[in-house]
Amino acid sequence: MQNTSWVPFFPEQASTVAGMVDALYFYLILVSVAFSIPVVVGIFVFAIKYRAKEKFATPEEIHGSMVLESVWSFIPFVVSMTIFVGGALVYFYQYTMPENAMEIYVVGKQWMWKAQHGTGQREINELHIPVNTPIKLTMATEDVLHDFDIPAFRTKADVVPGRYTYLWFNATKPGKYHLYCAEYCGLNHSGMGGWVYVMERRDFDNWLAGNASGQTPVEIGKDLFEAKLSCASCHAGGPQQRGAKLEGLYGSTVKLVGGGTVTADDDYIRNSIINPAGQVVEGYQPIMPSFKGQVTEEQLTALVAYVKSLTPNAASAPAAPAASGGPAQMPAANAAAAPKGGK
Ligand code: CUA
Repeated sequence: MQNTSWVPFFPEQASTVAGMVDALYFYLILVSVAFSIPVVVGIFVFAIKYRAKEKFATPEEIHGSMVLESVWSFIPFVVSMTIFVGGALVYFYQYTMPENAMEIYVVGKQWMWKAQHGTGQREINELHIPVNTPIKLTMATEDVLHDFDIPAFRTKADVVPGRYTYLWFNATKPGKYHLYCAEYCGLNHSGMGGWVYVMERRDFDNWLAGNASGQTPVEIGKDLFEAKLSCASCHAGGPQQRGAKLEGLYGSTVKLVGGGTVTADDDYIRNSIINPAGQVVEGYQPIMPSFKGQVTEEQLTALVAYVKSLTPNAASAPAAPAASGGPAQMPAANAAAAPKGGK
């Protein structure tokens, strides 16, 4: 991990991954320069050395060179493999969610970032975090695609409609760092940003204590579940219940009607609320109504947090696969339903 403070226009390195990303980046530049210089020099040297001295001159024939061909195959092979291995190492470090990270929920919307801490504190376009602590963001968007980007941490991830994406980092230096939206998302895209405040643990605890916490995500979810959305009327548990049992659900493997299985992760729970008919649990009827349009993303994250809280040790349950990219997998899900055959 080299220090890049001498490079003009370069953001500070303020997370554990920053040095790795920069090392890879400088290696790429080094390789590019190392190959560009001989090419450019060669152009001039050969242009002069082999310039036309007589008309229709025929050069001497060349009949191949084993040594030369081996060398120009082997060197690029080694160079490209080092880039591949280096890139893979950084990628897996950056997008493998650590267990027991401090969890913060983030919702992007045109044009602001809203964050809520597990302890209930809310922020808009600001994020206060403790230094030297792994932080995991569970992110959703209320409208279009956004991208959560902190250059000083050398990390970013798309926030994609219809699913959760995750980002983690471990800040190494107290300070104030820029936070951006790095995906064009409409008129005020450029204004969709703010600051990340990295604080010593003590200062962070003071900050938490000094900010009205209100309800925690779990409490908000419990409220929605029991009162506002009446989920409990079907999902409270017990033999008379028409809805699938939710205690111990998170992280477990759910058998679906039709024979498939799915891991009950955040996306599964979210999709079960939005599109209950998508993945019906074995032994239940697809009678749960969709709550699409009735709950905001913030309420959804609260509901997910509540369902998670029904499973002890849920915090260290399945690591999210992370990363921007693939709309490929949209785990439709569904815990919905009612006991077979009704009665
Ligand atoms: Cu949100 Cu650009």
